[in-house]
Amino acid sequence: MIPIEGCAGRDIVTLEGLGSRQRPDPVQAAFIEEQAAQCGYCLNGMIMSTKALLLLAVASSGEAEVIEALRYNLCRCGAHIEIMRAAMRAAGHLAEAQD
Ligand code: FES
Repeated sequence: MIPIEGCAGRDIVTLEGLGSRQRPDPVQAAFIEEQAAQCGYCLNGMIMSTKALLLLAVASSGEAEVIEALRYNLCRCGAHIEIMRAAMRAAGHLAEAQD
């Protein structure tokens, strides 16, 4: 989290700015592929936190880094397994893990 005054002069990307229905961002595509939602209430935070992790860090993001990045986003539906699979897919680890 960052105070609003800390955003002055900076670009802000929202979930709607990541991709489109026709061309979803790779993180959005991973969440779709893993069917990582029930009600969808938590998805903005889950997707944007995953995107931030991948933008800021991290080709080497593993499960521990993903858990840390998503820890402030709570899923009341209990879709955590699918969400983790989507985040790991987005990070490119799921395919590697299945090889
Ligand atoms: S899918 Fe419902 S809160 Fe996460």
